[in-house]
Amino acid sequence: MNKYQTLAGIALIATSILVTSTPVSAQESSLYDALGQESGISRIVDETVVQILNDARIKTGFKETNMKRLAQLLKEQFCVVAGGPCKYSGDDMALVHEKLGITSAQFNALAEDLQTAMEKCQVPFAVQNKFIARLAPMKRDIVTVK
Ligand code: HEM
Repeated sequence: MNKYQTLAGIALIATSILVTSTPVSAQESSLYDALGQESGISRIVDETVVQILNDARIKTGFKETNMKRLAQLLKEQFCVVAGGPCKYSGDDMALVHEKLGITSAQFNALAEDLQTAMEKCQVPFAVQNKFIARLAPMKRDIVTVK
């Protein structure tokens, strides 16, 4: 092994130590940062609500909903899910959605609206996907109809 190979080997080991030793909390909060922290998430949620209320596939389901309250709860929840320093004060997802008869297609429609909102807020595509992936496990609590 020559001098350069040795140096390259050391650099590789140092990089892998750095990556694997990054605390989970730091990895989580980097998504919060990537979404633009509190103000970025606030804009994303406001735009998501606009998209939902313009989405013929799901808008009727929100006719009786206090959208101002929903937006506030979504801001808290998205902040928590992205690893930010917030508290979610709303109810449990399964409890909230159990009587609404939500289908998989409706869930996907809302996820699409969120993606459109993030696009409008200029969130990079990779960050959009990471965030959608964090929300995806909620599907089993929200969708109750085949
Ligand atoms: C990832 C997907 C979703 C997330 C993160 C989410 C999140 C939330 C949150 C945080 C609340 C407020 C909870 C509370 O009142 O304490 C809520 C309420 C509600 N959600 Fe969802 N939701 C999702 C999907 C859906 C879908 C697909 C629909 C229908 C198409 C839907 C319809 C509703 C309605 C109608 C309410 C208000 C219920 C009420 O007024 O009491 N949600 N959701």
